[in-house]
Amino acid sequence: MTDTEIFQERVVKVPIPEHHYTLLVSPNGNYLGVDDEGFTTTYPVGNDRVMWDETESGSLRSAVGDIELVKESADANVSRLTLDGHTLDDVGEPSSTGVLYNVEHGPEKLPSEYLDFFRKNGWVCLTSILPPRLLEELEKVACTDRFAHLKFERSRGPFSQSWGIARAAAEPVSLWLIREYMQTDDVRVAHTPGLAILGRDDGKRVVQGWHSDYPYHWGVPVRGHVPTPSGETVLGVQRNFCVSPFTKMGGATAFKLGSHALDQGPPKEWGLASDHYQEGYREAHGLPYTGPDADIIEAPGGSIILYDSRTWHRAGVNRTDKKRAALLMAITPMYVMPKNDTSQSYKALLASAAYEKLNERERGEVERLMVHQFIGPGGEYAIAPDRELTATVRSRRRYKAS
Ligand SMILES: [Fe+2]
Repeated sequence: MTDTEIFQERVVKVPIPEHHYTLLVSPNGNYLGVDDEGFTTTYPVGNDRVMWDETESGSLRSAVGDIELVKESADANVSRLTLDGHTLDDVGEPSSTGVLYNVEHGPEKLPSEYLDFFRKNGWVCLTSILPPRLLEELEKVACTDRFAHLKFERSRGPFSQSWGIARAAAEPVSLWLIREYMQTDDVRVAHTPGLAILGRDDGKRVVQGWHSDYPYHWGVPVRGHVPTPSGETVLGVQRNFCVSPFTKMGGATAFKLGSHALDQGPPKEWGLASDHYQEGYREAHGLPYTGPDADIIEAPGGSIILYDSRTWHRAGVNRTDKKRAALLMAITPMYVMPKNDTSQSYKALLASAAYEKLNERERGEVERLMVHQFIGPGGEYAIAPDRELTATVRSRRRYKAS
């Protein structure tokens, strides 16, 4: 391959939003919304009901009902809210003693609009959805972008080091979309949410080949691939947060968008992850497919890309000196075994200062996502590694091998 033949992927550049909805967050973390009958109430989920439009006069108009709220305070971020002269309490009901709501940056589009796109295409980009303060925190824990001068300490485990990763895991609109797309509320993270930081390619290093994500693992050199197409049953959605801006030059993920619908893994001639992980493979065979049938989504930092885990993709190749950070989460239904243990990092989060920064809704979501359970004697038990049992299995393996 010559240089002119590589990096010919089609670029799908998402437009920069000109508008964002506003979210109104109650002290317990639930969102103020409007119910079927047109009354204000709070919800723990990020659907259309909790979307508000800020008017030119600074009032807030519901995206679904004929309701307009007035902010009592001039503070842009925190305010009591009044409806027809009554302040709203912590469950969104008019009362004499209102509470302070956080006025937060929301998504560009209605969640239902994203869902239509996601169902039709198998992927969707929630462009610049993260509140600016959260994006800054993620850059800081990744030591990239505005915090590129800091040193990343791999040993410390970023998940409990910063409130940012757990808060991102509880991001409400993407969670609602994932649950709708997977047709179940019972979803889990298949591993502890982790950062993927990609430095400049040196022309020699192992580059990830094409594959489908967990649990399908088509093209991945591990045990336990999903053996047949899963049809309408979605066994995984990958949720990738762009911490750094995603650009083709800067190492944004390459996809074959729409390939989830084929319900099978990528072709061997595209260069599979199960081949490319081998030392020396790149030297002998060059890069995995980087031609015009592949797609690269370019999106600003603070965006979330959701895709059906069957979608063929591979890590990008960073051709800049700037490190590219992403926060990755494989989401699976509760009936799929997790890929990695999440119990120890969840326990470390509970004991950390980061946990103190989370509100009740965020704590509930992180627990639901990370604590895998099964039925034991007398009820549900959280699943965690058992050292004693592991030792017996290992000793039997040794016995068999001898
Ligand atoms: Fe992947």
